[in-house]
Amino acid sequence: MPKLTFIERNGQPKDVEAPNGLSVLEVAHKYGVDIEGACEGSLACSTCHVIVDPAWAVKLAKPSEDEEDMLDLAFGLEKTSRLGCQIVMSDALDGLIVRLPAATRNAAG
Ligand code: FES
Repeated sequence: MPKLTFIERNGQPKDVEAPNGLSVLEVAHKYGVDIEGACEGSLACSTCHVIVDPAWAVKLAKPSEDEEDMLDLAFGLEKTSRLGCQIVMSDALDGLIVRLPAATRNAAG
């Protein structure tokens, strides 16, 4: 099963098993990682914003126009920012590293 590493807001890495077919957002929820995902993956919010490790960012499929539009609303946008609900785990992403942004627009703190 692919592995996924979340870099939490305090900078601590959290390694988890990420079943194929689950989105990064779904994996985060499974392990209690603090990504909100207010619209549950329907591309209507930006609270599932994650920052992909640059080495991995180039290996992901390009974001759709809808994802880009939503990302524009994300707080603390970076070059490799993506929406966690749009990254779907597969064997090709074994070892993926994503960092949680400092804050999201809808979440307190
Ligand atoms: S959960 Fe809302 S866009 Fe990803």
